[in-house]
Amino acid sequence: MKITQDNILATKVRKAVFPVGGLGTRFLPVTKAMPKEMLPVVDKPLIQYAVEEAAEAGIEEFIFVTGRGKTAIEDHFDHSFELEYTLRQRGKQEEYQSLNSLIKLPGSISYIRQQEPLGLGHAVWCARHLIGNEPFAVLLADDFIYAPTPCLKQMVDAYEKGVMVAVMDVELSHVNRYGIIDIMQEHQRQVKVKAVIEKPSPEQAPSRLAIIGRYILDSEVFEHLDKQERGAGGEIQLTDALSPMIQKMPFNGYRFDGTRYDCGSKGGLLAASIAVALNRSDLRDEVLNELSRVIPHSIKPA
Ligand code: UTP
Repeated sequence: MKITQDNILATKVRKAVFPVGGLGTRFLPVTKAMPKEMLPVVDKPLIQYAVEEAAEAGIEEFIFVTGRGKTAIEDHFDHSFELEYTLRQRGKQEEYQSLNSLIKLPGSISYIRQQEPLGLGHAVWCARHLIGNEPFAVLLADDFIYAPTPCLKQMVDAYEKGVMVAVMDVELSHVNRYGIIDIMQEHQRQVKVKAVIEKPSPEQAPSRLAIIGRYILDSEVFEHLDKQERGAGGEIQLTDALSPMIQKMPFNGYRFDGTRYDCGSKGGLLAASIAVALNRSDLRDEVLNELSRVIPHSIKPA
């Protein structure tokens, strides 16, 4: 095939959307004045892990769909001159470098405001003019994926065209929290999708295979999101816009290698922090000590 600008754009995933417009009600009151995506796993906010994952997958343009009260995210990825000056003055080189690594090439980060949190599908639709006509990634920062190879990189490496969604098996009693895949066939990590059912009851679920917050999407999704149809919970759902695309183009689930923590829930965020801390040589012993002190007291006698 002759390589042209058009067919390079048709397959290379250069842009990523980070929907961060949600209200984070499950974390109130901490999310009253602070974005959920700024909650830390140890010493980095969730959104930073997602941006680093995207960069490692070769993403060049980072598009945040924000909302009211989310300016801390913009500040996080910008210079803080007083802080940087002070760190340099005090010879805190490592800390200074860690701040500097957050600064992306000028012009590679954009922020779009989702004026009302009408759902994930609506948040993605808000980015339509910045995406144009090429495949793009969507990363939900509150789905924290701890993996030897970053999850999005695994997907980009396997992606050819169409739609690819990250998938994993969940407990049957949890299927009503996810978009669930009706499986047509499986080959190694790839699952050919027959249908997607949004938040089915355990009795209706065609499988336990759930869509997790990493997507590579074809820009055709915007035609379906244009209809602004409300789905489960009265929200404009991304999975509803994906369903009509299943018949039209390759549509695959990707069973990623790694552990996913649902950091949109309190238990998930705590578990992620413990897992990351136990894997860090500077924290492991201290955390193990603390856990062994706390755990016996937290188990109530029968
Ligand atoms: P959630 O379903 O976790 O909703 O959104 P939420 O509002 O953030 O949190 P809770 O349920 O009230 O605690 C999944 C992802 O989609 C984004 C969120 O920011 C999160 O990253 N989102 C959701 C939007 O950007 N806009 C929306 O209208 C809804």
